[in-house]
Amino acid sequence: MRKLYSFCSSCALLFLLLSRLLTFGAYAQNQPVDAAGHQWWQNAVFYEIYPRSFADSNNDGVGDLNGITSKLDYLKKLGVDAIWITPCYPSPQVDFGYDVSDYENIDPMYGTLLDFDRMESAARQRGIRIIMDYVINHTSDRHKWFLDSRSSRDSAHRDWYVWHDPKNGGPPNNWVSVFGGSAWQLDPQTGQYYYHAFYKQQPDLNWNNPEVVKAMVDVTRWWYERGVSGFRLDAVDKLFEDPDMRDNPVLPGKNEHGDPNLDEIYTSGLPGVHDVLRGLRKVADEHNAVLVGETWTSNIQELRKYYGEHNDEIQLPMDFMFAMVNKVSASSFRKQISLVESSGGWPVYVISNHDIQRSYDRYGDGQHNDAIAKLMAGIYLTLRGTPILYYGEEIGMENNDPTRVEDVKDPVGRVNWPVDKGRDGERTPMQWNNRPNGGFTGGKPWLPVPASVTTHNVESESKDPKSILEFYRHLLALRHQNRALLDGEYVPLNQEDPNVLSYLRRYKDETVLVALNMSGTPQKVSFDLATQGFPSAKAKSLLTTLQTEPASLSDLALEPFAVYIAEVSK
Ligand code: NOJ
Repeated sequence: MRKLYSFCSSCALLFLLLSRLLTFGAYAQNQPVDAAGHQWWQNAVFYEIYPRSFADSNNDGVGDLNGITSKLDYLKKLGVDAIWITPCYPSPQVDFGYDVSDYENIDPMYGTLLDFDRMESAARQRGIRIIMDYVINHTSDRHKWFLDSRSSRDSAHRDWYVWHDPKNGGPPNNWVSVFGGSAWQLDPQTGQYYYHAFYKQQPDLNWNNPEVVKAMVDVTRWWYERGVSGFRLDAVDKLFEDPDMRDNPVLPGKNEHGDPNLDEIYTSGLPGVHDVLRGLRKVADEHNAVLVGETWTSNIQELRKYYGEHNDEIQLPMDFMFAMVNKVSASSFRKQISLVESSGGWPVYVISNHDIQRSYDRYGDGQHNDAIAKLMAGIYLTLRGTPILYYGEEIGMENNDPTRVEDVKDPVGRVNWPVDKGRDGERTPMQWNNRPNGGFTGGKPWLPVPASVTTHNVESESKDPKSILEFYRHLLALRHQNRALLDGEYVPLNQEDPNVLSYLRRYKDETVLVALNMSGTPQKVSFDLATQGFPSAKAKSLLTTLQTEPASLSDLALEPFAVYIAEVSK
């Protein structure tokens, strides 16, 4: 509470603190919140906000915290329970906030700590929790720890980062950066190289150093005391490197940056990460908080490990293998769902984020994109697990990739143009209405608003009962009040069907059927639910894109990309 008290001089803040104390009781107990024994984060719908692009309150072209505060009612109405805000700490913005220069403050471009407190309090009053993005693998090269670290070989923070002597006059080994080129940068003043898994302005912290561990865990305490309900942990697979600095084995071919393909056995997924995660989880548990993981894995066994052997690590490791099913395909999604279900952990579903092309484009076929956007919502919002929406997904925002290299803001897009155009396309301003700049800013937006703003924006879609936004709102409302959707087990149906993905969600005597036509042609399906205890099942639509209520479950006609969600009874 040290820093918090230093802000208590104004009455306004005192009021905020008091209101927090009054509402804190509900959050502070680490108790199951429902009869199925689920915690709050299992019943919650998460929503990722890229703060630069959500809402700009001071018309400087960049979104900010006051902008987010002004949109909390929108989020509440949508059915959001927790917002994950990508990094808004002070930062030189080389990697748009993922290069943090002070973990315990807010970048002036986004506001102040007081703005943060106001936002947190306003969110709390609406039952919305705040999740911070915690960049734990690296800091900015302007962070005071690194400035000291690089100042001399004997500095107090020298060992807080990964330093190594040159080898044969060059970098210590063949490790390459995720953003291209060697992962080693020579510091001429001290004659050693430092390691950076990402840009050279993002030196990796040395998690083998107990002082680093303590300092980083303390940062989480500081934010918990400020009222946050958890962290999304950035790049968790990168925390540790091989202490012997062995070369990664070279694989055939080159990657998109022109670097040799490497098998990253010495730089990714090293076991030390699990100790760190257990330490962070312990503190999270003391605050009834959640850890969400940026957990890129190539198989389910790797993902399983992030939950922890005793479920004592990350509660919500994101399943990117699900997000990377890039084709609307019943069999591919069925397979991935069953794999995650088999992991024994609580699934976490995402279909896009600030690093990957928007789902609207990835799944869209150019003809039925709106229907497909609803179909995708129909999957990941009805499955057992926690969904994380990416801002704008609920209105069908599309990518707006730069067409000229001189317009690119994301450095990786400038360096690798045109093979990789960077990530600007999926980070464009939220489309609030059909007025200039989509109502995002009264100034010049930092990235251009796509042409689709005329049809896909919050204001217009709110007036259209058939819009993607209204579909999301209805589906999220249903999800919040339906026990089978919240707590029910997942029971796959008709598993040989190549076009229609269908399943039951069952909780005690409540059963919901979900049928999703994942093809562009009409499909007929028949459900025999006798083995599920429904010899003559009856169904009642809860939410569907079908034009007419189906007569029977034994002969169900599904239009292209149709969604059918129904309550099943005997
Ligand atoms: C993952 C983040 O999502 C991405 O945006 C960032 O560039 C890297 N981590 C490095 O922090």
